[in-house]
Formats: sequence, structure tokens, C-alpha cells
Amino acid sequence: METMKSMSRAVGAGEPRGNRMSHMMSANEGPMDIIAKVSGHVKNGIREDDGPYFTNNEGIPLPDPEHSKTIGGIPIASDVHLFQKQQHFNRSKLAERAVHPCGSGAFGYFETTADVSDMTKADFLQHVGAKTPIFMRFSTVTLGREFPDEARNPRGFAIKFYTGEGNYDIVGLNFPVFFCRDPIQGPDVIRSQARNPKNFFLDYDATFDLLGATPEGNHAGLMFFSDHGTPDGWINEHGYGCHAFKWVNKKGEFVYIKYHFLAKHGQKQLTEPEAIRISGENPDYSKMQLWDAIEAGEEVEWTAKVQIMKPEEADAEKLGFDPFDVTKVWPRKEFPMHEFGKLVLNKNPENYHRDVEQAAFSPGSMVPGIEDSPDPLLQFRMFFYRDAQYHRIGMILRL
Ligand code: HEM
Repeated sequence: METMKSMSRAVGAGEPRGNRMSHMMSANEGPMDIIAKVSGHVKNGIREDDGPYFTNNEGIPLPDPEHSKTIGGIPIASDVHLFQKQQHFNRSKLAERAVHPCGSGAFGYFETTADVSDMTKADFLQHVGAKTPIFMRFSTVTLGREFPDEARNPRGFAIKFYTGEGNYDIVGLNFPVFFCRDPIQGPDVIRSQARNPKNFFLDYDATFDLLGATPEGNHAGLMFFSDHGTPDGWINEHGYGCHAFKWVNKKGEFVYIKYHFLAKHGQKQLTEPEAIRISGENPDYSKMQLWDAIEAGEEVEWTAKVQIMKPEEADAEKLGFDPFDVTKVWPRKEFPMHEFGKLVLNKNPENYHRDVEQAAFSPGSMVPGIEDSPDPLLQFRMFFYRDAQYHRIGMILRL
């Protein structure tokens, strides 16, 4: 009886059904159409449900969003709305990323600014001036989702390009090098920077223990303990693809490349005391910096460059170092930088859970014209990121 009465005063009852149309209108669009809207590439692209009343997951108006169906005040099992609302809530927080849980991101575009079609057949790199929608996520590595985002740590620098030939991910860092070169040491590296399993305290002894026993990790270790470990927010840092990749052209010829993304206004970094003060004052400093810049209409920009190595040059004996070892950089004198594009961020997410938490980047997601190099860490990362995401998000990923 109570329910029948509430039905007649359901919020939004009697509203024209057309109000709900925006919710489902793009159900048959392909991923490119949808992301072009989400990224702000195409106008009127708001994807959020902005209906004037509450609905259940099927889009049916809730009879009474503030009261459950009861018999003598006791909620009953046939109240499908009550059950669905609670079940939805129970599942509304994903497991944190095992690594890089604290982060935020934004949409924008990549613009090709130089002709590199002789080196790669990737369709989004064929024409100067071509723009490709992107989503980027920035993060700290080993600290928890709610930890201050200005704390000492490397920064994740992940880019998803929504190209005409599928989604291409570059899953990089603000360091050009990593702490280990053999994937079997990966979990040890991360654990050495994570909390002590005995008492859950931060434990720099473990970090130094690993660095002391892993000489190849000391380049990244020095960056970690320098001001590179405390960049001034997400927007004042450079980004690197770190690994070597292959660019392959239409004739099947290839070169090896390394990606560099240089912050438009240069790198800015904080000192240890500045970073500690900011972490205490505003744990969301880096996330807010990006958000506020975009809300203020600023375009946040990086210049994209590559170092290029011909296959015949990729000889460890001649070079004196293994070019596929991710603990090494390629000397810029011998392998100069070539500009090929720019990354521009200009649209904030509409829904953090949908757009940022559910974003799933994988070094294995490459498009025709871009391939892996024989870097052993890259090879294994190409497999295990999706595995981490099948566990974290389930099989339905926002790719
Ligand atoms: C073997 C060493 C490594 C291990 C075990 C590892 C592990 C992981 C895991 C489990 C995630 C979470 C994936 C998810 O749930 O979405 C992750 C994220 C990430 N990793 Fe690694 N990683 C390693 C090396 C690297 C390297 C070398 C780089 C950079 C070149 C890197 C950059 C990133 C970034 C940027 C993310 C965050 C992506 C996002 O924003 O969602 N990782 N890593």
C-alpha cells in the first residue's frame, strides 16, 4: 500500500520520456565515436547521466528514492530497487591498482607535427596536423590510493591513443629508466618501496637493501632520491616510454625508437621540505593542479620526441651497452631527439570512477606500425598488465 502511494509521487513521474533519451542515444556508436565525445573532440559530448530524477540500472524511475518497500517497517526481499541500489554500492569501488593506485587523468588530443611516415605506418602518424583523441593518467607508484600525491616516488605517465586502428598505450614514467631489467625482480622492486609487511610502516631500509644489491637499479635509485622524485605536480614533469620500441614502415623496414615527452614549460621540481609541507597541506596537490588548470581553460602540453636507432646500430658490442636494457638511457649525442608531435590535455573526466579508476593501460596494446623490441621487461609487461586488470576490474575493461 505504502509503495503504491509512493509510486504516484515518484520523483520525475510524469516527466516527458524524452528527458531520458540522452542516456541510451549512443548505444550503437563505436568506440571511436564515443571517445571522440568523451574527450571533447566532438561537441555536445557529455556522456554522464544528467536526467532530472533517479533511475535504477535499467533506466526505470525509482518509485521513491528515499524509502524502501516495507511490511510493518521491515524491508522486504521483493524490493528490487533496494537490493539493486545496495548491490551497486557494494561493487562501486574497484580494488586499488596493485601499483600506481594514487592518480588522476584527463582527456585531450595528440597532434602529429612532423612527417615520420617513412619510419612508421601507424595511421595516426601518417599526416602532419592529424589529431588523435587521447586519455592520460598520472600517478605515484607504490603509495596507496589516498596517500598524498606529492610524496617522494616515481610518477606514472600513461597515455592511451584512440587511433583509427585501435587503442595504443604508452605506459611510461617520469624517469627514463627502471630499477630492474629482469622481470623476475619486478615484484621485489615494488615490494622494496612498499610498506613493511610486518608492521605496515614505510620502510626505506628495504629500498636501500634492494638498491645495494642491484647495481643496475642505481640510476633509477638516484633519480628516486633526487628532486625527480618530487616533481611539482603532474604537469611540470617530463614523461618517458623508457623501453625501446620498433617503428615499422609500409615496406616492413624498421627502426628502434625511445619516446620522450617534454613538458611545454620545462620541468619543475620541489625540494624535500617543500614536498613534505605540500603533502601535509593538500594531499591532492598534483591531482588538483591538473584539474584546476583544465577548468581554467588552460591547455596542458608536452612535446613528443623520439630517439632513433637503426637496426645495424643496435649492437651491444659496438655501443658498449645493451640498447634493450631498460636500466640504460641512449646517449643523446649519438641518438639525438626528433620532434614528431604534441600531447594536449584540455578536458577533465566526467566521472572519476568510470574514466580514471576503470582506465586500463597495457604495454601490450600496440597498433600496426609500432612493435615491441627484445627488451625482456617490456616483453613480460606486455602480458601481465592485462592479467592485473582482469583481477582488478574483471573482464570488462575500459580500454
Ligand atoms: C617488472 C616491473 C613492474 C611491475 C611488476 C609492474 C606492475 C604494475 C602493475 C601490477 C600495475 C597496475 C596495473 C593495473 O591494475 O592497471 C602497474 C601500473 C603501471 N605501471 Fe608498472 N610495473 C613494472 C614496471 C613498470 C615500468 C618499467 C614502467 C614504465 C616504463 C611502469 C609503468 C606503469 C604505469 C604508468 C602504471 C599505471 C598505469 C595507470 O595509470 O593506470 N611499470 N604496474
